[in-house]
Amino acid sequence: MKTFTIQSQVTAYNQNELPADIRELVEAAKENVSHSYSPYSHFAVSAAIRLADGTIMRGTNQENCAYPSGLCAERTTLFYAHSLHPDLAVTAIAICCFSDGHFTPQPGSPCGACRQVMTEFEHIAGQPMQVILYGEEETYVFRSAADLLPLTFVPESLHC
Ligand code: THU
Repeated sequence: MKTFTIQSQVTAYNQNELPADIRELVEAAKENVSHSYSPYSHFAVSAAIRLADGTIMRGTNQENCAYPSGLCAERTTLFYAHSLHPDLAVTAIAICCFSDGHFTPQPGSPCGACRQVMTEFEHIAGQPMQVILYGEEETYVFRSAADLLPLTFVPESLHC
């Protein structure tokens, strides 16, 4: 038997410390949060992604009166982008959450299903997807989506 530790590195920034490229993506996400369709949870989530050619695409959470039919902002955006640009890597994704009239002070955290989708797109692209979790007080930046989902299930896992 052995016990081991799995580590992931995260950088926490204050608002005024954000590098320009990260700030641009965060602002793109924040500007679009009003497009969230979240009449049931009243928890609006917005994602902005940067593609390898520099294109920025945005999406929000989309809920439904049949609750499980709704979809998170991250997957709405990633599936939309991959449908239009299947050959372009996603180099970064920024996520922000808005509730009770303000952006959350602490960074929003992607659900497990969104982490799985992020890691697969990162894996097939063969390059890291930077993950930016915005909060009014601090913003977390992960170098790679896999840092948010260790022991990732990837396409090759189907054939082990
Ligand atoms: N939500 C997201 O959009 N992304 C996540 O990663 C976590 C949760 C949405 C789903 C639902 O519309 C609302 O937040 C409340 O769970």
